[in-house]
Amino acid sequence: MCGIVGVTGNQNATDILLDGLQQLEYRGYDSAGIYVNDQHGDGFLVKEKGRIADLRALVGPEVKGSTGIGHTRWATHGVPSVTNAHPHVSADGRFFLVHNGVIGNFSELREKYLADVELKSDTDTEIIVQLVGKFAAEGLDTFAAFRKVLSLVDESSSYAFLLMDKEDPSKLFVAKNKSPLLIGVGDGFNVVCSDALAMLNQTHDFIELTDGEVVIVEPQSIKILDQDDNEIKREPFHVDTDPEAVQKGAYAHYMLKEIDEQPGVMRKLVQEYFNEDGTVKIDQALLDDLSQADRLYIVAAGTSYHAGLVGKELFEKLANIPTEVHVASEFAYNPPLLSEKPFFIFLTQSGETADSRQVLTQVNKWGYPSLTITNVPNSTLSREATHTLLLHAGPEIAVASTKAYTAQIALEAILVKAYGEAKNIERAKEFDVAKELTKVANGMQELVDEKGKIEQIAKDLLATTRNAFYIGRGVDYALAQEAALKLKEVSYIQTEGFASGELKHGTIALIEDGTPVVAIITDPKMAAHTRSNAQEVIARGANVLFIASRDLAVAGDQIILPDIDPLLSPLVSVVPTQLLAYYASMQRGYDVDKPRNLAKSVTVE
Ligand code: AGP
Repeated sequence: MCGIVGVTGNQNATDILLDGLQQLEYRGYDSAGIYVNDQHGDGFLVKEKGRIADLRALVGPEVKGSTGIGHTRWATHGVPSVTNAHPHVSADGRFFLVHNGVIGNFSELREKYLADVELKSDTDTEIIVQLVGKFAAEGLDTFAAFRKVLSLVDESSSYAFLLMDKEDPSKLFVAKNKSPLLIGVGDGFNVVCSDALAMLNQTHDFIELTDGEVVIVEPQSIKILDQDDNEIKREPFHVDTDPEAVQKGAYAHYMLKEIDEQPGVMRKLVQEYFNEDGTVKIDQALLDDLSQADRLYIVAAGTSYHAGLVGKELFEKLANIPTEVHVASEFAYNPPLLSEKPFFIFLTQSGETADSRQVLTQVNKWGYPSLTITNVPNSTLSREATHTLLLHAGPEIAVASTKAYTAQIALEAILVKAYGEAKNIERAKEFDVAKELTKVANGMQELVDEKGKIEQIAKDLLATTRNAFYIGRGVDYALAQEAALKLKEVSYIQTEGFASGELKHGTIALIEDGTPVVAIITDPKMAAHTRSNAQEVIARGANVLFIASRDLAVAGDQIILPDIDPLLSPLVSVVPTQLLAYYASMQRGYDVDKPRNLAKSVTVE
């Protein structure tokens, strides 16, 4: 994920920017850059692909000044490269911009206003800086030009912008919508950052910005303006640090950080598993082994098992291979009757789960081929299986698994694409996974940006309840099981995930006045049925929260999901359920990262 830093009024601007970017490394990125101005007419732009250390190596002693901006980029629009790295520059070389977020209508803006401008990069960000340059050249001052551009950006967009004007170089022009951005109050200077962690060496006092505000930051002043240009006074808040908090960035909890990281993980998987020509990068030996199989056996525990349930739908629908999903601890002592040519897939975030390992040991004794899908290279299950695919989700610290679940489903989809294509299956050939996962990443971002709304729902629905239910059909049922596990493990609310059609066969007896029921609706084939099951529980007093895909939503649905392929819908529908679990735990005052009785890696049976 991207990171932003900025400073004005400090002679050590270059070091402050580079150190700040270094602190943001934990968020993941693929390129970085800085622009520093010395206030005497000279400016220095340095960008590099790769690590901050590579950028540092390029920064010579001449790169000095008191004002500057910097950025770590996780590619969204355009591949990771020096050209696509931020800061971006207007055609006349006057304006410099860094940006976190996604500009939804960037192609419309390009077509309408910039037909005569030769763009240097593939990014949505460059459109913004070119527009500022264009409007300034037409006679607007920098602030007015910036304002005008902000008014053209559509509602779907998210941004944290930090802009510099070479002709007025002590000012930083700042704006945000949905993406986080803070102003740090220094002693005789000020800083800007997307994450307080980046600037904790400079200050512990930060001013939070709200969506739609524009700020002009100078060495001695911070002017916050609302949408109507009224000045707002806001006191800074103090950030205390302890070593553990540093590891979490400025997040209060790993779980929230890891929920937020999911859009970046989707993009990372696309980067890791697709060639430049759009073909999938999967080892041929693995595809050869899969092509011999007459049935797949997915073996896993907990959240990974739930990711396997979604995988079954993908493998059966896109690769036409019968697929069974088994709880590892059950399989270990009570294996099913196996087909003639089984292929085993072990899903395990940690790669160390004892129940799963026990099955793998047995599979190896039988001599069947296997694949481990894991987040941890060189973990036991990775070493012992025939093949390994890595999740590339970054370390998952919170006990409640979030980003590993979505990474597992995304990687299953990528594997299915390669497998189905190798089998010449039309539906797999048509399934554009890279495009869908990019849509998923943007959709996830929209959902994590709705935290305030979900926090309120958790407060209303889950703060004091004794029990709760998730219901759905098809992949929504698979998701319901994961959502229920997440809620129960961090909030201790007794929660179950049900196939909504099963309610009438017993569970509806538990519904009483005010029982929270969350209905998940993402599959057009079954939407009407789940809605009518929801009506049945409403008639018995349940308090129903509807989470529905945009094209299936009706008036009154509380959480609307972006439209993506229904087979991948758990990748987005899970996000509000993770946030509900997180905020329910907060409401009830629990240690969300370390729930009672649970361990991150379950290495005993
Ligand atoms: C989920 O939130 C849990 N922490 C747990 O169910 C976990 O998914 C399970 O223990 C399996 O772990 P693994 O993926 O590391 O094998």
